Amino acid sequence: MMHLIQAFLLFILPEALCVPSSSGNSSENVIRLTYQGDSPARPIAKDIAALSIEFCYIADYLGDIGHPNSLSLALLQNIEDIADAPPVIRIGGHTQDTASFCADCLQTLNNTFAPGNDEAIAVNFNKGLFTVLNDNVPSRQEFIFGLNFASNDVAIPLAEVEAAEKYMHPCRLRAYELGNEPDFYGSSQRPRPWTVDQYVAEQEQWIGQLELKTRKGFSIGALAQLPVWQGNFSLAEIVDLGLPRKIDYAASLSDHTYPYSRCDPVREAQVSLSGLMNHTALVQYFSQWAPEIKAANDAGVPFLMGETGSVSCHGVQGVSNTLGAALWELDYMLHGASIGMSGVYFHMGTPFYYSMWQPVPHNGTPATVYPTYYSLLFMATVLTLNDPQIASIPVTDPNLAVYALYEGSPSVTARPERIIILNMGVLESNLGGPIAPATSIDVSQLLGDRTKITRLSGPGSDATSGATFAGQNYDSGRPSGKKVVEKAEGIVTVRSSEAVIVEKG
Ligand SMILES: *[C@@H]1O[C@H](CO)[C@@H](O)[C@H](O)[C@H]1NC(C)=O
Ligand SMILES: *[C@@H]1O[C@H](CO)[C@@H](O)[C@H](O)[C@H]1NC(C)=O
Ligand SMILES: *[C@@H]1O[C@H](CO)[C@@H](O)[C@H](O)[C@H]1NC(C)=O
Ligand SMILES: *[C@@H]1O[C@H](CO)[C@@H](O)[C@H](O)[C@H]1NC(C)=O
Repeated sequence: MMHLIQAFLLFILPEALCVPSSSGNSSENVIRLTYQGDSPARPIAKDIAALSIEFCYIADYLGDIGHPNSLSLALLQNIEDIADAPPVIRIGGHTQDTASFCADCLQTLNNTFAPGNDEAIAVNFNKGLFTVLNDNVPSRQEFIFGLNFASNDVAIPLAEVEAAEKYMHPCRLRAYELGNEPDFYGSSQRPRPWTVDQYVAEQEQWIGQLELKTRKGFSIGALAQLPVWQGNFSLAEIVDLGLPRKIDYAASLSDHTYPYSRCDPVREAQVSLSGLMNHTALVQYFSQWAPEIKAANDAGVPFLMGETGSVSCHGVQGVSNTLGAALWELDYMLHGASIGMSGVYFHMGTPFYYSMWQPVPHNGTPATVYPTYYSLLFMATVLTLNDPQIASIPVTDPNLAVYALYEGSPSVTARPERIIILNMGVLESNLGGPIAPATSIDVSQLLGDRTKITRLSGPGSDATSGATFAGQNYDSGRPSGKKVVEKAEGIVTVRSSEAVIVEKG
């Protein structure tokens, strides 16, 4: 099958954008997608695919005054070119809680590291940081700016907000966020007992002072603990205690999560790419957020997974930076949207393996674009509708995750505009090529007999480079190679560890 595709690619005319697809073999097993007139669709936010950058690494990602990081700028611009806006970037993480504005400091950003710790223990920034945020990004870039809550001194976030308001273009600033993972604050950050009531009282008090200096809103929460373990230190309790309506104003409510961890040996031993790619496990895992999402919805505030990634404590090489992880990110965002998440903020830092790209050379490794970046390209392309709505389409094959995208709220008889098919099957790169297992899906009942297909592919689940989207590779920042949109009939073939966007042809 792969050879067939490649043979066609060789004959594309320079101006041709469409090629015949390797649409399946009708005598093989074909999975037929059938019309679900009653499947509930809900809106999917066009900016659901977002980024979070560890505060101390923001200058690595965006460069310095007059010297943008050209790789990051190209990668963000690619998304703006497709979607009219680049992904929103939240600047935060543990190091937002060690940061402070320093008017007299000479450096744009000055990090102090302790040995063996990739997160700076002290971060100072001057007004130059805001020049970087204004100038080194695409025209429609927006940021959520993380403020320091952990240092337990309201003068620090007051100075940060004053500086941001003075030096940052208002259009760059979507919201502030006061504190990172406050539910996990240790006794050096807050005297014990530290409870949700205490948190709500302090947030109300501090934001009451900050909001006098800005017209922007605040993202509330940034909670770390899993809903099954969080007890009452939850968004649900924060909403019950009235924080969103006591401040001016709650722009969003957020939790953080990493389904796997390498923070201790017991959990590190459980990390696996095949586990990460298990769609059934993903659906089960995220079901615990139902009360958190409902609490946000009831408060009329968007729910964000405001910092997230595959494996906490900075990811695992060969798991977090792979094509399989890119498919997990897609399934996460699409499923997340179908259960009410408005934003999914994938975390990044220069030495972190779950980063979509490493912006500068580090420890002898060059700047690198990982396959996970391609999930942004895919989502930007999926969401070029005016009012996208999403529904999950149930299928019996456990390797497949299938979603329907509608334009506007679908009537009972509406047919989807696009079908997204993720083949979450594991494929080792060195077993690729013609013997790679593929699944054929008949979409004709939903989209008719002429379709076009935009494909995310790569050497295999474990590949950390060599991904392509619509036939193009972005590993140097900008797209290289000819853009390929395949033409097919009603049957679409999707190899293990591939994802496709299928539309009417
Ligand atoms: C379709 O699949 C069958 C069974 O695997 C095989 O015998 C046949 O040659 C295939 N036909 C085409 C056109 O590939
Ligand atoms: C960076 O911060 C450290 C620790 O606060 C300080 O000692 C150092 O002088 C600062 N560097 C510059 C160039 O300002
Ligand atoms: C939350 O739980 C803690 C510990 O169980 C309890 O002390 C506290 O009163 C509870 N707070 C609220 C607002 O229910
Ligand atoms: C995927 O996860 C589900 C739920 O945890 C589990 O029952 C199933 O065995 C997993 N599948 C594989 C292939 O490991």
